[in-house]
Amino acid sequence: MSCVHVCTLDTSMADRPTFIPLDPPSVPDDPVRAAGMFREFMSARRSVREFSSRDVPRELIEELVGTAGTAPSGANKQPWSFVAVRDPDIKREIRQAAEVEEREFYARRASETWLRDLHPFGTDEDKPFLETAPWLIVVFKCMKDGRSRSESDQVYYVNESVGIAVGLLLAAVHHAGLVALTHTPSPMKFLSGILDRPEHERPFLLIPVGWPADGCVVPDIRRKRLEEIMVVDRPERQSQ
Ligand SMILES: Cc1cc2nc3c(=O)[nH]c(=O)nc-3n(C[C@H](O)[C@H](O)[C@H](O)COP(=O)(O)O)c2cc1C
Repeated sequence: MSCVHVCTLDTSMADRPTFIPLDPPSVPDDPVRAAGMFREFMSARRSVREFSSRDVPRELIEELVGTAGTAPSGANKQPWSFVAVRDPDIKREIRQAAEVEEREFYARRASETWLRDLHPFGTDEDKPFLETAPWLIVVFKCMKDGRSRSESDQVYYVNESVGIAVGLLLAAVHHAGLVALTHTPSPMKFLSGILDRPEHERPFLLIPVGWPADGCVVPDIRRKRLEEIMVVDRPERQSQ
């Protein structure tokens, strides 16, 4: 016997939702080639820790953040705030607070294994890029929806949603010819205080954005091959 679900929605929610026609993406002549070219383009994206002090106009940062804001999110709650910092005094404050945490991290908090895993990147507690980069985009995740016109203030799949938004942001940065670093001075609570964020917003990532310094170098690391990250249907069974 089928189970009958008793609907307890109020009448406003029982109204039919509104749909509009999809504005479909334009289909390239050769989608596989286009996808391959995009993959190659994205392969050149690297995390950069040496920035030029050359300015980046605010309009460019606004376009990048606008792209991040196109990300899908649980129940379309868009649970993110992007604080774009360019004031040198605030950047200095952030650097100083981050370096306090990083000194603790490298001296005590990090395990031996973690420090060994970080060795290829040559990172340490000094974070000059937090002042050199013309912009720091500080990403906050929102633990409730602050919009008054929203159905409820609940949010869903916040980490997944904000993670996707940051992925789009990094792709937009790369597309604009800029570079960025995904930075996580841990714990990042100090960012809420310095940037005067409301209680329901939690720091998610700190992303310096700018142009690479002359002669900038990056760690010589490799990415996993497609066969290492993708399976079609199920892993092949080993014959007995
Ligand atoms: C969630 C996350 C946190 C990261 N935190 C730091 C960090 O605190 N400091 C740093 O120098 N790099 C950090 N990175 C950058 C990684 O080291 C880098 O993405 C990785 O080595 C791959 O290099 P690529 O970005 O050039 O491909 C972080 C990356 C991610 C995705």
